[in-house]
Amino acid sequence: MSLQAHGGELVQQVFLGKSVSTIEKEVELDSIALSDLELIAIGAYSPINGFLTKDDYSSVVESMRLHDGTVWSIPITLPISELESSKIKIGEEVRLVNKSITYGTIVIDEIYQPNKQIEAISVYGTDDRNHPGVKKLLERGDYYVGGQITLVKRPPKPFPEYYLDPRDTREAFKDLGWKKIVGFQTRNPVHRAHEYIQKTALETVDGLFLNPLVGETKSDDIPADIRMKSYQILLANYYPKDRVFLAVFPAAMRYAGPREAIFHALVRKNYGCTHFIVGRDHAGVGDYYGTYDAQKIFSNFQAEEIGITPLFFEHSFYCTKCEAMASSKTCPHDASDHVILSGTKVREMLRNGEIPPSEFSRKEVIEVLIEGLKETVTS
Ligand code: ADX
Repeated sequence: MSLQAHGGELVQQVFLGKSVSTIEKEVELDSIALSDLELIAIGAYSPINGFLTKDDYSSVVESMRLHDGTVWSIPITLPISELESSKIKIGEEVRLVNKSITYGTIVIDEIYQPNKQIEAISVYGTDDRNHPGVKKLLERGDYYVGGQITLVKRPPKPFPEYYLDPRDTREAFKDLGWKKIVGFQTRNPVHRAHEYIQKTALETVDGLFLNPLVGETKSDDIPADIRMKSYQILLANYYPKDRVFLAVFPAAMRYAGPREAIFHALVRKNYGCTHFIVGRDHAGVGDYYGTYDAQKIFSNFQAEEIGITPLFFEHSFYCTKCEAMASSKTCPHDASDHVILSGTKVREMLRNGEIPPSEFSRKEVIEVLIEGLKETVTS
């Protein structure tokens, strides 16, 4: 028996043949809404089958649950401007468009005005506009459209070979004979600490689902195409082929820390994972969240309500005395013996062509990153 999707059934709302030529009105999607449309339709966000209506939205914001009680931590919304809201009516079916291409339709259930201040504080823990998630929230339209969607055209697939739907990854895991699969979310290159926690987890499960997020990220994160090259070279050199499955997660990054950790776990359950890694400051940014807040938040829920087992890891590092990767759980030495670099510091080093120590990152990965970043600067 295969693992149940969150809330029961895997949502499938892709109807590529559907004729939309008679649907006159349209709503413009930004890149986040476009990726959400696709992720809803392919079941990655099961049980959600549309952009949230007000009851579900308010309940998610207030209590991290849909109106029916199912755990859900990030509001999936379709924001539009006041002008756009005046052109559409409840009950209508409209086309969902990005840059003049129709990707889907929505049957409008509701048009409502959210309280973004409350949304920011509840979801991101701050209303500081310097927080990239809050900034995005405030920039997007001030009205939300709720209703069931259909995907009629697939958005361009940036990494087609690694672009699998939850239905396909579930099938692939079955074919591989994997029963226990650990999901790994990342928006970074895989450095030694990531590798350490992945392989530690892999010691107790059948397979690792390396599932880098490749949707919209903030401008100083390493671009997805460079990261993809770094994952490929790392896997080719340091991971057993038959134990790792690489596929992209085409969602936008929210930087919502703890709430996003819950969301990331539920989505990976839909992709077919039984376990999910949550390390230090998962989906965090700056100093907005405590190092282990994204782990602590899981204690608000019963295990069966989440339905995927989180695997928590301490902050990991290379210890020069242990001569190994370790964490405070396994290493007795001083902080001065630990090789720790912040993401910001590493990005700065790479942009200056400096090579971070091999205790921090594999040399093959660094080479790809330096080369890739050189090309972004010159292009
Ligand atoms: S994230 O925004 O996608 O969470 P990142 O790609 O850095 O950022 O992290 C991927 C996963 O690895 C997250 O679960 C994060 O908590 C974990 N992680 C990153 N660095 C470390 C580290 N040094 N020690 C332990 N866990 C880490």
